[in-house]
Amino acid sequence: MAWRVKEERFNKENIVNNGNKFITGNGYMGFRGTLEEYTKNELVACNISGLYDRQGDKWREPINAPIGTFTTLIVDGEEYSVLSKEPTQHTQVLDIKEGIHRRNTEWDREKGKVIIKAERFLSLSNVHLICLKYTVLSEETCEIEINTGIDGDVWDINGPHLENYKLENDDEYIKVSTLTQELKVPVVVAEICKRDFEAEETILKTEKSVLRNIKFKADAGVEYTIYKYVSVYTGNDETKNIEAECLDVAVKAAENGYDKNYSEHVTKWNERWEVSDVIIEGNDDDQLALRYSIYQLHIIAPVHSNKLSIPARGLSGQTYKGAIFWDTEMFMLPFFLHTSPEVAINLVNYRIRTLQGAREKANYYGFKGAFYAWESQEDGQDACSDFNVTDVFTGRPVKTYFKDKQVHISAAVSHAIWETYKFTGDDDLLLNGGAEVILECARFYYSYAYFKEDKDRYEILDVIGPDEYHERVNNNAYTSKMVYNTLDIALKTLEILQDKYPEECLKLLSKIKFSKEEILSLIKFKEKLYVPMPDKKTLVIEQFSGYNQLEDCTLEEVKSRLLDPKEYWGGGHGVASTTKIIKQADVVLMLNLFKNEYSKEVKRANWEYYEPRTEHGSSLSPCIYALLSCDIGNAEWAYPFFVKTSNVDLTGESKQFAGSIYIGGTHPAANGGAWMSAILGFGGLKIQEGKITIDSKLPNSWNRLAFKVILRGEKYFIDINRDSNTGDSKVSILKTS
Ligand code: BGC
Repeated sequence: MAWRVKEERFNKENIVNNGNKFITGNGYMGFRGTLEEYTKNELVACNISGLYDRQGDKWREPINAPIGTFTTLIVDGEEYSVLSKEPTQHTQVLDIKEGIHRRNTEWDREKGKVIIKAERFLSLSNVHLICLKYTVLSEETCEIEINTGIDGDVWDINGPHLENYKLENDDEYIKVSTLTQELKVPVVVAEICKRDFEAEETILKTEKSVLRNIKFKADAGVEYTIYKYVSVYTGNDETKNIEAECLDVAVKAAENGYDKNYSEHVTKWNERWEVSDVIIEGNDDDQLALRYSIYQLHIIAPVHSNKLSIPARGLSGQTYKGAIFWDTEMFMLPFFLHTSPEVAINLVNYRIRTLQGAREKANYYGFKGAFYAWESQEDGQDACSDFNVTDVFTGRPVKTYFKDKQVHISAAVSHAIWETYKFTGDDDLLLNGGAEVILECARFYYSYAYFKEDKDRYEILDVIGPDEYHERVNNNAYTSKMVYNTLDIALKTLEILQDKYPEECLKLLSKIKFSKEEILSLIKFKEKLYVPMPDKKTLVIEQFSGYNQLEDCTLEEVKSRLLDPKEYWGGGHGVASTTKIIKQADVVLMLNLFKNEYSKEVKRANWEYYEPRTEHGSSLSPCIYALLSCDIGNAEWAYPFFVKTSNVDLTGESKQFAGSIYIGGTHPAANGGAWMSAILGFGGLKIQEGKITIDSKLPNSWNRLAFKVILRGEKYFIDINRDSNTGDSKVSILKTS
């Protein structure tokens, strides 16, 4: 069954990782894959998209809402929880086709079993709604108590973020209303619980939680089920009366009944899969891993809002501050562009909306234009700290220059807007802020660049490229090429506007005070910008000036120099800093993005040179190596990288620490990378000027790859069948309804 992720035994060690692996979500919120009886100690989280809070001088981070599904079971006075009593059988399942989390846990008692069966989903048809069905059965007659309600004592990394707890209940509902402590934004959770059996019910309140105690005599072998309808609202929702609306959603869901809510939710999932499913025949593991990656992207997609984007750890918790990085534009966007362009537009809209933050950042550093936040939160201010790692030996914070020097972020934003524009052909995107962003990014780079009189060229100095281990380098090939691309895009954008919308163009130029001279400066800047080229002999592009002089040692050698496994490899003292070992795809990323501009030989030479020197210490790296090896015709080189990227959240084998800072969570950029590797890599899909071409090279174990893409409102079904004897592929491209 390539639609299910399953664990068939309870293992305490896996609790944290399973929180990521079995996650559910609907773009509005993500709910970690935890069990009903867990609390903040097991990192339960109902993580809200786009709502942040800062406690004291700690990092700002997203809010975890009170947990409306919290439920514990007591049988004849004894608690039945996997945490306190080893179950005799236990399965945890994530059905990715329907977005449902299920668990089934059994304990043996003297005269028979006690069984919990529970399933829950975060509704796709109403993003505020969580439904839980919780069934208990005992094989012997017994006294059962179910404590269920809203647990307001939530997990925080840098909290507590919620205060002013107001706990309410009446005959039907319970409700917890809180405020965030920094900006006083309301966060409200209401719950209605229905059951199909008679019981005594009382309400228990603690400082932050309201629970129902449901007590009844259970007959042997009879299933007793409660249905919980939990609604979550925050002050960010565009509604006048949050409290009333929150309650209303729970009331309506309860009236609707569990099955109806379930089927409405599944209908929405079916619609999503109808366009985005990818069929792989020949390898079931790959099939599941790719679908799972796609699932991960769906559960964090801001379908309901054009104000939100996707954080680097999705909605799996508060690591990476719930912030939006270049991950979204460079790694996730292609999936959405090809399968749900409306989501891609929402994502780029977030950057358009946060342009002011980018302007302020540029201004702060003494530059012009728009320097986007390295770690962006709700209003585009940079949440990235000056000290992103901690020295494991001294416990002292270490200064990193991520936010100050990863200037390639603005180029990623312009690139994303341009790609979305080209893909959708939607001029409105440029007219409604896209062009303004692109011009402001180009302006930023012009003010950032140095003109070297002696060399008669502009250089981009003092930056950090994608490889974060080497800080403050000059002429990073990736960054310079992306700057060039931004200029190219800016000039093309101006041409389009001048041509098609001269009035709007004048208005925009006058609004942002973009003079004729400034346009001429951009033209000159583009002509004279230095972008490192392949070496004539080796064809290798030097990652940055001076990289070639660094110590050329193996990855193993660098690893062997670590005194502590959690030691940070980069920055001032890192073991990789003085060597050629790099964290992630850098030159190779550039070659993949601009693959049409470099020869196959150049791409191959750089792949071969940089791959052994790449740690793949970021989950963003393997997919890029997969993509470029497909491009140079080598699917077998690509394959292990595809396996790595598509399994990142299934195996949990990713970096959990940067220095001593916990960075666990899901990896949506790698999930997007899995989709790219399969479709753009193995499938060889290219869309140019509205035309689809396929140049596929499937891995040996795949016989078929089939998928859909949406292009300018038309849906196409692409089916690649590979003859396993001859290795030849037959491709069909069908327009479907
Ligand atoms: C990578 C960055 C990435 C960030 C968030 C870091 O480890 O080096 O490129 O944006 O993680 O995923």
